[in-house]
Amino acid sequence: MDFELSEEHLMIQQAARDFANTELKPGVIERDEHQKFPHEQIKKLGELGFLGMMVDPKYNGSGMDTISYVLAMEELSKIDASASVVVSVNNSLVCFGLEMYGTEFQKEKYLKPLAAGKNIGAFCLSEPEAGSDATSQHTTAVDMGDHYLLNGTKNWITNGGNASTYLVIAQTNSALRHKGINALIVEKGMEGFSVGLKENKLGIRGSDTHSLMFTDVKVPKENRIGEEGFGFTFAMKTLDGGRIGIASQALGIASGAYELALAYSKERKTFGKPISGHQAIQFKLADMATEIEAARMLCFKAAWLKDQGLPYAQASSMAKLFASDVAMRTTVEAVQIHGGYGFVKEYHVERLMRDAKITQIYEGTSEIQRMIIAREILK
Ligand code: CAA
Repeated sequence: MDFELSEEHLMIQQAARDFANTELKPGVIERDEHQKFPHEQIKKLGELGFLGMMVDPKYNGSGMDTISYVLAMEELSKIDASASVVVSVNNSLVCFGLEMYGTEFQKEKYLKPLAAGKNIGAFCLSEPEAGSDATSQHTTAVDMGDHYLLNGTKNWITNGGNASTYLVIAQTNSALRHKGINALIVEKGMEGFSVGLKENKLGIRGSDTHSLMFTDVKVPKENRIGEEGFGFTFAMKTLDGGRIGIASQALGIASGAYELALAYSKERKTFGKPISGHQAIQFKLADMATEIEAARMLCFKAAWLKDQGLPYAQASSMAKLFASDVAMRTTVEAVQIHGGYGFVKEYHVERLMRDAKITQIYEGTSEIQRMIIAREILK
């Protein structure tokens, strides 16, 4: 067993850290406050290869492993979780799904610009009545011979407004339940497809989350991913990898808050010494550091299994479950350590605390992760 990161891993980690500090940090408070999407920053991340990190270079990707992805996600999320969720969805839900299960035509047409960061992708599974219970799809894709007729509404779609390529999960044959579901590639601009209002959120406010409406949208058959009825399995398999991305985002939110709290505890003085000299603060810092390290190990383990071609569904759910709880606990404690300063925007930790909450909800709530882990254990 080797816990040492390679030269290449350290370079990627440093590149992501530098980018986060020089490009994401300035303006992060303002983007959060005014719900501004980080257009310029995402464009630059694309140019640097962070939007198609694990995609084969022949499809414009960076050809990196999943460990590199975890490292980059942690560094970006320390500073700006709104930007890092764009990176996560594009990499592990959209690019991965297309590279793994798409046709050559789909890879040429859709994957290449997504991996190069020229387009942004969105993954559209959730519906007003299908969040955790993902088999209950009400969006329909009726088979019309050479195309599907798509009707329905999707909710809480990350990148909903800024994406160009949407992977939409829809029911074709309800009698077959999850085996009658398809995954279709929908382009922005297709007739009948419209983007609803942007959600006004507690956290990750710089990311754009929208509902999407489909009214008699004609989606060509060549845009179906995989065989007829493969859509639900496609969504589940893709989410297995997506959860490594969100676990790493949660890890980054936690370690970002911890680093701020640690630095602050050495500067802030009470009762004649820095607060880091008080055992009450030391115990908090020790717990935070220990939990963050454990979360990091779970993220690496899931990433390593994926890179080895071994099953990783259970490991990615464990990583997401644990890391998201650690993000929540750590950010709350980071605010506490900062005292009154922690409650104001300039000190960043209140934003990280708000951002942490979503990691316990999207790509499957903590309850769904427990369900998945329990099923695997009891198999
Ligand atoms: N890989 C492959 N196949 C899988 C699978 C996996 N990980 N998980 C389930 N399946 C298959 C099962 O084997 C089964 O197939 P068969 O009948 O052929 O055996 C089929 O899928 C149905 O599985 P279940 O009976 O387990 O289905 P279920 O209804 O009990 O629910 C669930 C399964 C895991 C709870 C699923 O509904 C789920 O993951 N829900 C959460 C959905 C979710 O994560 N949504 C997030 C939205 S995306 C998002 O948030 C992105 C973003 O914007 C940031």
